[in-house]
Amino acid sequence: MQVVRTIRDYRAARAELAGPVGLFPTLGGVHDGHLALVDRARSECASVVGWLFLNPTQFGPNEDLDRYPHDEAFDLAQLEAHGVDLLLMPSQEEIYPAGFDTLVHVGGVTGRLEGERRPGHFDGVTTIVLKLLNIMQPDRAYFGEKDAQQLRVVRQLVRDLNLPMEIVACRTVRDPDGLALSSRNAYLSDEERADALALSRGLRLVEAAFASGERDADRLRALVRGEMEAAPLVRVDYVSLSDDETLEELSGAIEPPALLSLAAHVGQTHLIDNVTLGHRE
Ligand code: PAF
Repeated sequence: MQVVRTIRDYRAARAELAGPVGLFPTLGGVHDGHLALVDRARSECASVVGWLFLNPTQFGPNEDLDRYPHDEAFDLAQLEAHGVDLLLMPSQEEIYPAGFDTLVHVGGVTGRLEGERRPGHFDGVTTIVLKLLNIMQPDRAYFGEKDAQQLRVVRQLVRDLNLPMEIVACRTVRDPDGLALSSRNAYLSDEERADALALSRGLRLVEAAFASGERDADRLRALVRGEMEAAPLVRVDYVSLSDDETLEELSGAIEPPALLSLAAHVGQTHLIDNVTLGHRE
């Protein structure tokens, strides 16, 4: 794996790569969920490029930027072992030079769920994602379904701005007990981790109810909320059952596919998870 730290060096190395080129972007804190994206890119693309940059603008003032997990040597070893060909780790100064003064804003879909509760978060995401797609020039970019809203926002950005690349969605990777993998799981104490399992348990309850024919939006939401509220260390931020694409909240009998998504604080740690109910025709 070739590691470069400037855009200029990246561009020179990118020019030598065989296509199609698949991109895996990360903030760091690499875990098996990230590596599944790399593996998928590796299996579908002639070359795999990685972007590793802890982007400050997508963190709110009271969020976890200062303690976000990072272990550069570990991350690099993992990415190399999984076959990344070229990794760009740009500096803060090159990405946000003095005088940087542009924000990319996607409408509609950013106003709900995480966007409603984390003001400015998605503007930070869309600005850096547009920058990184411009810099990296992939043919395909791989994003996880775990960040369901981010995935929809990125698709909207790519569609609206006619970016010439495909966004590939990859399934959420879970620990054997159901916990969705996240860099933030590293913050959880043993007790918090045990209670955090209520999130995926709740989602499984909803999937089972949906499979048995339950379609009422309120009853489906109540199932997962009840499971989460029974865990003492879990504070529910939201439970949403929404249109799979627009993320508008559903009521009455739902028409699949629908996105059941949730967020909670477990201790001080913000966790999100989701499942899709039903499939597109
Ligand atoms: O999903 C992430 O890790 C980040 O939001 C991304 C896409 C790398 C942008 O900083």
